[in-house]
Amino acid sequence: MNEITVFDKTFIPFLDEATIQAKIKELAQQINNEYEGKKPLFLAILNGSFMFAAGLFKNVFIEAEICFIKLASYKGTQSTGHVITSIGLDSNVTNRDIIILEDIVDTGKTLHTFLPQLVNQQPASLKIATLLHKPEATVYPLTIDYCCFSIPNKFVLGYGLDYDGFGRNTKDIYQLKID
Ligand code: IMP
Ligand code: MG
Repeated sequence: MNEITVFDKTFIPFLDEATIQAKIKELAQQINNEYEGKKPLFLAILNGSFMFAAGLFKNVFIEAEICFIKLASYKGTQSTGHVITSIGLDSNVTNRDIIILEDIVDTGKTLHTFLPQLVNQQPASLKIATLLHKPEATVYPLTIDYCCFSIPNKFVLGYGLDYDGFGRNTKDIYQLKID
């Protein structure tokens, strides 16, 4: 793994492909066990979670559905503090076992804003699975049920995560280099 540059910023290797895939498989196995016979509905939050969602879903061997919703709160490397929902939820979540898939939980604002909309529709159960979590960045506390990697409060990129739309297309995850 080498450093990569996106626009004006340099990123250094942080989590390699094998490490990421091993953790995702472990999580899928846990879900296979815990949700056997339940037909969960995965709700993947676009855009960032598409690679995590694909990696996980390929390893889910129980009956399950997946649906994609678009929420966004970031511009550049800073949270804008407000959440824009641009693709609505088309599946019925009432009485379903819901597992939300996020690329990263940072301040918690995105899910904090979105969760009440889901709870209103009375799912049978609601859990959050995230590839990455920055505990030090928490502003809106959330219960995260499944987390692949707890990471420091530094901007990361790759495997679906972007810097102003670019840098999503890597198999590894990189961290912003501070010089
Ligand atoms: P939150 O609402 O502050 O928890 O932020 C959640 C969203 O912000 C994530 O789904 C990402 O799209 C984006 N985000 C947060 N931290 C990072 C990062 O380090 N790199 C890229 N995107 C990030
Ligand atoms: Mg996101």
